[in-house]
Amino acid sequence: MTAPDSDLTIDPEALRRRAETALRTARDRTHTLTTCVDEPDLTAQHSPLMSPLVWDLAHIGNQEEQWLLRAVGGRDALRPEIDSIYDAFEHPRAERPALPLLAPAEARGYVHEVRGRVLDILERIELRGAPLVDAGFAFGMIAQHEQQHDETMLITHQLRRGPAALTAPPPPAADGAALSEEVLIPGGPFTMGTSAEPWALDNERPAHRRLVPAFHLDTTPVTNGAYERFIADGGYTERRWWTADGWAYIQEHGLTAPLFWRREGGQWLRRRFGVTEPVPPEEPVVHVSWYEADAYARWAGRRLPTEEEWEKAARHDPESGRSRRYPWGDEDPTPAHANLGQRHLRPAAAGSYPRGASPLGVRQLIGDVWEWTSSDFLPYPGFRAFPYREYSEVFFGPSHKVLRGGSFAVDEVACRGTFRNWDLPVRRQIFSGFRTARDAS
Ligand code: AVJ
Ligand code: FE
Repeated sequence: MTAPDSDLTIDPEALRRRAETALRTARDRTHTLTTCVDEPDLTAQHSPLMSPLVWDLAHIGNQEEQWLLRAVGGRDALRPEIDSIYDAFEHPRAERPALPLLAPAEARGYVHEVRGRVLDILERIELRGAPLVDAGFAFGMIAQHEQQHDETMLITHQLRRGPAALTAPPPPAADGAALSEEVLIPGGPFTMGTSAEPWALDNERPAHRRLVPAFHLDTTPVTNGAYERFIADGGYTERRWWTADGWAYIQEHGLTAPLFWRREGGQWLRRRFGVTEPVPPEEPVVHVSWYEADAYARWAGRRLPTEEEWEKAARHDPESGRSRRYPWGDEDPTPAHANLGQRHLRPAAAGSYPRGASPLGVRQLIGDVWEWTSSDFLPYPGFRAFPYREYSEVFFGPSHKVLRGGSFAVDEVACRGTFRNWDLPVRRQIFSGFRTARDAS
């Protein structure tokens, strides 16, 4: 099994600093996302699919209060009357604008007050013993929760109409090396999931062996250029490439291209964070639903990879036989390994990040775009909901498909070879792309 990061398991001071840094990094990003627009933009609903930004902000604070102040710290509720407003299960996104939400200034004050008390607790508490605090788990979980909502808020920014509020430098260019189209992943067992990664969430556990027959996997995610060929070849008008549900969905909604694309003057344009630009052919396609990814794969004579195929390609080291934390090894991501953390507001060209390659040469498994897999979101053998059923367990079943690898909008604290995301097959406002696979025999 993967060796856990020794800092996290041995040195209590390093662990405290790591938890503090993860919380501060998340808060800096939350601050950016909630101060780059004015008050009306914070309280408006930019899409019925999303919450007002100010709901995400106070929900971040409320989750932190519930887990770190109350569950870990044993404190009383600061504002018990607001719990229900920020309970995601009580109020679907569409109805959140009508709730008596904290105004932006109040919400800022609330999250600030919670954080101050949390940092006091973090300085004093022993980070071992109970499962919730062992290796700083609850602090890591809450940093991941905030980063996940930061990605959600970035999606809201992408959906928002009006001039750009966020800017970022472009990602590094591809290294220009000639890459083979696909990589053969030899058959055999590998270790899927983890029992050792201290901040892994419940659905990533426990580690278990899986037999994965040999298969071929695309070296990079499918690009806009390749996806344009699917469109030009009548991909959206030919029934045979689509599942029954997928076909019904694109008919009902009149879909003819990825979300945010439009055709003008014989070329494809896209809107990206308030700017309209030509679709760059070398970049991984983003904002496609599972239905579109699945149809493209069939058109290409291929299929989506299963979740276990994806994880084997990303983690299995054929030399040692071990499953590692990332495609490049066990070390935490650096800017040379992967396009993460909203450093760039777009995926990097296919063929970028040579240092992030897997031992067999698969590129860009981590970062850039979330990758749809063919798999339903299901528990691993031996799964136990922890610390709450509403994180994963209530979503298990055939209605949600698994996405892997993280996008350019994912922070490294919420991204690793074992990390599992999931969504409905119709979703495409998320930063979703895919790569394709085929059987080896
Ligand atoms: C894991 C991204 C599907 O945003 O619905 C946030 C993460 N869970 N608050 C989501 C989450 C509770 C979740 N996803
Ligand atoms: Fe949440």
